[in-house]
Amino acid sequence: MADNEGNIDAKNFGVGIPQKQEGFFLKGNEHASWGIKSRLSQVFNEKSGRTVMLAFDHGFIMGPTSGLERIDLTINPLIQYSDCIMCCRGILRSVVPPTCNKPISYRFDAGTSILTSLNDQSLQDIEEAIRLNVSLLAVMVAIGDPEHEGLTVRNLTKTVDMGVRYGIPTLGVTAVGKNLTRDARYLGLATRICAENGANVVKTYYCEENFEQVTNACPIPIVIAGGKKLPERDALQLAYSAISQGAAGVDMGRNIFQSDCPIGMLKAVREIVHNNATVDQAFDCYETYKNQK
Ligand code: R5P
Repeated sequence: MADNEGNIDAKNFGVGIPQKQEGFFLKGNEHASWGIKSRLSQVFNEKSGRTVMLAFDHGFIMGPTSGLERIDLTINPLIQYSDCIMCCRGILRSVVPPTCNKPISYRFDAGTSILTSLNDQSLQDIEEAIRLNVSLLAVMVAIGDPEHEGLTVRNLTKTVDMGVRYGIPTLGVTAVGKNLTRDARYLGLATRICAENGANVVKTYYCEENFEQVTNACPIPIVIAGGKKLPERDALQLAYSAISQGAAGVDMGRNIFQSDCPIGMLKAVREIVHNNATVDQAFDCYETYKNQK
């Protein structure tokens, strides 16, 4: 119990100095709760306003795809070079060291695989997400998929409601599908629908034409997936183009872990995302690290 005698008189009241009112650095999240902002600040770097997320959740629909056969051997050594990891709970609990101290973008839905129809998803328990101390709840949203659009939008809204209750932000993940065109019109529609339904961040794909329209019409930060493996320079060009047209970061998987030098690629992507490096500078960073090995 505090002593009630001999206390130093309190006098440092800062009279005349208005209390600082700080805005929040991340687009569209100014009015979120303290817990949501705190978790978003773990994922996004306040200085650059951006993030490099390392995605290795692919196994939940694809099984042990190339580069993810042994996550303990190939992914764990990369984690320290990322700002955030995106994965499923099984891999988190079985392979990822809890001492890694990286914020987790948690794959919060589960459902059908590449062997059947994708996107028939249901949600996990919010208590599990809390137990795992996650920083983002990632949920697939299949806009334009006649079978699963309604289901996945409802999944998103339920996730937002649960996340708001416990101070955990939601990442809307625009789905892939055989008949879904990845042009600005489609991506603009899909990302905006995620934002309108309450997501705090949205993950989508880059498109060559008018990507700026997609980022401008989306009131929350967009991070881009890398997609299928490209030659390293092309993948860096993709990251550069997306960032210079308003993306707030990347959520990249295959173009990192399927590279011939994954750490070099992560370092190079970081240069683009956080230090506004050009493609030449980033490629040089990748090659320098690769040749030093
Ligand atoms: C896809 O649904 C998964 O969520 C991946 O995390 C995402 O596609 C990013 O990985 P990649 O850069 O390999 O496309």
